[in-house]
Amino acid sequence: MSASVGHLVGRFFGSMFAGSVGALDLAWVEEILTDEERRLWLRMGRVDQVESVRVARRAAAHLGDSDAVWLAAALLHDVGKRDCGFGTLRRAGATLMGRLAGRETTYAWMSSTGHVRRVGLYMHHDEIGSVAIKVAGGRPEVSAWAKVHHDPSRWRLAEVPARIGRVLAAADGERFADGMSALHSTSAAD
Ligand SMILES: [Fe+2]
Ligand SMILES: [Fe+2]
Repeated sequence: MSASVGHLVGRFFGSMFAGSVGALDLAWVEEILTDEERRLWLRMGRVDQVESVRVARRAAAHLGDSDAVWLAAALLHDVGKRDCGFGTLRRAGATLMGRLAGRETTYAWMSSTGHVRRVGLYMHHDEIGSVAIKVAGGRPEVSAWAKVHHDPSRWRLAEVPARIGRVLAAADGERFADGMSALHSTSAAD
């Protein structure tokens, strides 16, 4: 995951004081998602729902009408986070632990038990969410973005256009290794 420390801190405090999704936003979400995707979105925790709407609203400011499916992708990109069962505090700890251990190690942790397994699940919420969307009958673009939303090098393989990936990643607060905001990067290939 390439979110900056500042972004992680901001997200931490944002989620500590998040309310719940209001009626207007809820109606907007229902317009964007298919029935299958909506059922999945409704199973997300309150804090994750609020964050997902925030990300999708930011993305909507940069996307056209023909890109509507990618707003669904923004709403569901972190749906895999629910599997670990962690709240905000333990997610922050899991992020630190996971970064120290590395992606391969945390992948193996998913086959472990207890807290270690849950950290593994959290660190691989991208893959887990992607499979959940596919199994639920969500659209291929929505599943694809969940899978690669932390890794620009996989956008092309997942058929995520670079223009779309940059908007969605920037809306999610991602920064690339060069410190550039994803929205302003021109290096990722279509
Ligand atoms: Fe994520
Ligand atoms: Fe996210």
